[in-house]
Amino acid sequence: MVDLTTTYLGLKLKNPLVASPSPLSEKVENIKRLEEAGISAVVMYSLFEEQITHESLELDYFLNQGTETFAESLTYFPDIGKYTLAPDKYVERLEKTRKAVSIPVIGSLNGVSTGGWIKYARKIQEAGADALELNLYYLPVDVDMSSSLIEDTYLRLVEDVKSAIKLPLAVKLAPFFTALPNFANRLVSAGADGIVLFNRFYQPDMDLENLEVVPNLVLSNSDELRLPLRWIAILYGKVKADLALTTGVHTAEDVLKAMMAGANVAMTTSAILKNGLKVVPAILKGMEEWMVAHEYESVKQMHGSMSQGSITDPAAFERANYMKVLNSFNPEYIP
Ligand SMILES: Cc1cc2nc3c(=O)[nH]c(=O)nc-3n(C[C@H](O)[C@H](O)[C@H](O)COP(=O)(O)O)c2cc1C
Repeated sequence: MVDLTTTYLGLKLKNPLVASPSPLSEKVENIKRLEEAGISAVVMYSLFEEQITHESLELDYFLNQGTETFAESLTYFPDIGKYTLAPDKYVERLEKTRKAVSIPVIGSLNGVSTGGWIKYARKIQEAGADALELNLYYLPVDVDMSSSLIEDTYLRLVEDVKSAIKLPLAVKLAPFFTALPNFANRLVSAGADGIVLFNRFYQPDMDLENLEVVPNLVLSNSDELRLPLRWIAILYGKVKADLALTTGVHTAEDVLKAMMAGANVAMTTSAILKNGLKVVPAILKGMEEWMVAHEYESVKQMHGSMSQGSITDPAAFERANYMKVLNSFNPEYIP
């Protein structure tokens, strides 16, 4: 028997396969099924800043009916859609989930600005969450907004959320940072106990017939693992935080690579949405078989073994590798 246990944010997990936020965690019944399939922890779908602010603006609007400012500001808010629940219902759902399963349940807040809405961090804690994930997702389109201003805003938010709760806090990031190791370290100083790499952006498409920009959700595949894999390998040992890999985890090999790069856990959504729950036991079984065949006794044994600090050629994760890859494609003949 091999030992698949790992730790993440101070939680002891039976294996490294965690369900990342998605509609899969919308229903308590589905979270129970994720647990039965072998998932070791679940991060609930997110409660969005817009949802909370929207609700309080709506309340203000009804209290101040007729004032144009509120009516105007309401129109700026995006259509939240039916996927998300009202904030209090979210907390209620989390509390029910906590009681229904024995695996750790991690709450998720998704926002960028500090302010009244972060009181929900405390509500999530009171509902019994085992930890909180804060998804920082902002798309800067303003030419006057500098990267340092955005980073400082994020750091202030992390500090504010952390000071509101006693729970361990993980921060989920997008891959688009100019100097990720520096920012990751500043996140840890601001209070992050874990870093989740990476948030997957859903790029809008264009409908040429109707000349419209349309949302188009394409699920990931294993090729997309490489981006978070590289950065986890680089960050491992450099930041004093647990690392979670999200994006592109579809197979046992993907989870094994994540562990060797230095992740404490590998999170998955697309694999389950594409293949159903059966993919969970298949991944876990595949990991055990691989570990037996390659004489590994535990996941802990492989943790960080292929991180940048552990391999003989650290440049493999850096720019030097870029030229090698390009040179590997040198066709004599173009068909
Ligand atoms: C339909 C759908 C809904 C999602 N909702 C959330 C969410 O509420 N909060 C969040 O942090 N990530 C959300 N994600 C992102 C996933 O948690 C995950 O990070 C991303 O899909 C990459 O992992 P994957 O390659 O395993 O799909 C969502 C993804 C999908 C496909």
